[in-house]
Amino acid sequence: MSAPQFLQIYHHDADHVAQELLQGLMAPQALTSPKYLYDSLGSRLFEAITELPEYDLTRTEARVMQQHCADMASHLPADACWIDLGAGNCEKASHLLGPMAARRYVAVDISVDFVRAALEGLQRQHPGLAMMGLGTDFSGGLHLPADLKLDPTQPRVLFYPGSSIGNFTPDQAVGFLRSLHTACGTARHSGLLIGVDLVKDVAELEAAYDDALGVTAAFNLNLLLHINRLVGSNFAVRDWRHLSRFNAERSRVEMHLQARQALRVQWPGGERLFEAGETIHTENACKWALPGFDALLREAGFTATRAWTDPATRFAVFWASA
Ligand code: AVI
Repeated sequence: MSAPQFLQIYHHDADHVAQELLQGLMAPQALTSPKYLYDSLGSRLFEAITELPEYDLTRTEARVMQQHCADMASHLPADACWIDLGAGNCEKASHLLGPMAARRYVAVDISVDFVRAALEGLQRQHPGLAMMGLGTDFSGGLHLPADLKLDPTQPRVLFYPGSSIGNFTPDQAVGFLRSLHTACGTARHSGLLIGVDLVKDVAELEAAYDDALGVTAAFNLNLLLHINRLVGSNFAVRDWRHLSRFNAERSRVEMHLQARQALRVQWPGGERLFEAGETIHTENACKWALPGFDALLREAGFTATRAWTDPATRFAVFWASA
């Protein structure tokens, strides 16, 4: 049995992180990158969100993949190298590697420590599959290091499930997808398998991001504790409320944190005054229509596309050929 290999190329740069966060917090409309929602507690809260009755995105995607697995296998290349972006516990890919006859699996996440145990478990189930964990921050675009020693003649399947693409604005999404197109390499039959949440009833969308148990509120508010650790600020969670609303013009659910009263937030070397009702924009979750997402993929350089959905067309899994 081969053993997974690990390559960590991302290294936390505290000054850079603090600078990026403070620049956003000082902007006229304060904003933060959604990646800061995922400290260790934030990641666990997100896992809990995926089990909420109001948030059916993850379950619907799993059903689409399960129901259309055989048809997907007829469109995707066999013997490919699967590159799983944001792999975490590798659960989603674990159901596909066998049916899709994958030859190699690269689990990508910010830290190899997030994928290590899952990859070792998966290796036991697939002893003949070459496996690798890559620790890199791909939020600004994917770059596959030469040290991965990927075979340029082997087709690649870039796997980006979960509708994380929705957390990019359309402009950011095109840039990001272009980097995935480049990462597909030059072998024939390579492409991108990507999950996309589709636009649906506004009340359902808003409930999915403001659930009755308050888990999404906790997920959003926990960002303040994470920021306090990263920049040494004194945000008090009780001073803020979770807001989520559908912006129809931009077809996206926006998450904000709203100041309950006028506040002064301080950190070493700076401060910001927030008026009562002022917000920090913490996340966008863009909701796409099938033709719009198809056009986005083509703008990013992908050619033929194929989409599978659930019967109610709530969620789509696209295969986009490079
Ligand atoms: C990770 N991402 C696709 C989730 C979403 O639906 O945009 C994050 C999330 N934010 C609030 N609830 C879930």
